[in-house]
Amino acid sequence: MRLGILTGGGDCPGLNAAIRAVTRAALKHGGIEIVGIRNGWEGLVQAKSMPLDRKAVGGLLIRGGTILGSTPSAVFKQDVELQKLCDGYHELGLDAIIIIGGDSTLAVAAKMSEKGLSVIGIPKTIDNDIAGTERTIGFNTAITVACEAIDRVHTTAESHHRVMIVEVMGRHAGWIAVMAGIAGGADMILIPEKPFDIGKVCNTIEERHKIRDYTIVVVAEGAYSEGGAANFTDQTDAFGYHTLGGVGNWLKREIAEKLGFDTRAIILGHTQRGGTPTVEDRILATRFGVKAVELATENVFGIMVGLREDEIVPVPLKEAVKNRKVDDYWYDIARIFFG
Ligand code: F6P
Repeated sequence: MRLGILTGGGDCPGLNAAIRAVTRAALKHGGIEIVGIRNGWEGLVQAKSMPLDRKAVGGLLIRGGTILGSTPSAVFKQDVELQKLCDGYHELGLDAIIIIGGDSTLAVAAKMSEKGLSVIGIPKTIDNDIAGTERTIGFNTAITVACEAIDRVHTTAESHHRVMIVEVMGRHAGWIAVMAGIAGGADMILIPEKPFDIGKVCNTIEERHKIRDYTIVVVAEGAYSEGGAANFTDQTDAFGYHTLGGVGNWLKREIAEKLGFDTRAIILGHTQRGGTPTVEDRILATRFGVKAVELATENVFGIMVGLREDEIVPVPLKEAVKNRKVDDYWYDIARIFFG
């Protein structure tokens, strides 16, 4: 079997660990040739590949990013581009392909599968917002980085009696904000799933300062105020996403103006996506990669591997492309510690 592997969309820690796991599992199984697709979808269209063997994947377990490279997925959702992907698949002589990506990438993978190609998806995104899996590759590293940042901000906020806004990633789902916020002891967490009332946010901070005269607010980049439009501009980026409006800095101005407190905003941005993966992400990526190869050898395609109740299971790709939001269970726990 000639098995391709492709990474699509934004990078994250753990992609290389998955590439290594797929390659090593395929080599152990025998009779499988592994072909890495260069630069994501772009490379598939151009039929650009590299052979992956034991040596090529040496040292990858702990290395962030993707050695294969990656390109945005939005444009490839169009039928005309989709045909080019299918042509590239055939030109490379692939029998099957493992596609590692977030919601947009997996949506393209689902369309390729509908066209009759043998596709298996592996979910990755620091946002952890893919339906059909309780965890995605990269999420644990992102919350670890974000939590460390919140920990560090605590001492400086306390020393200067400041309000510190920590803006984390998460455009449609607030998983990073909620998990890193709970672990880091945030005094307020704002997420896209729960539009906020700026008046109530300020009241909570004002009340808190009567007891503890500093506050840490963790806000997901996609959070927005009640009744207002979502925090997006009308421009789009290379990924086809609407660019975000900078909710952290907006909050800083509102809080400083309404309460007169010394307020600062910190945007963690891509630090959450870089560097070495955590232990949990290395293990998850390894389990996903091994299972994907197992399913390929059993001719099970049109699915994504997902984590459910600590088992790695096949999930129909169609189900996987839906967005998974933060539910009340988690937000209610976070809310107990507001103020
Ligand atoms: O989807 C992952 C993610 O990191 C989001 O959290 C974030 O909004 C987006 O990608 C940023 O993308 P870019 O790398 O294009 O700025």
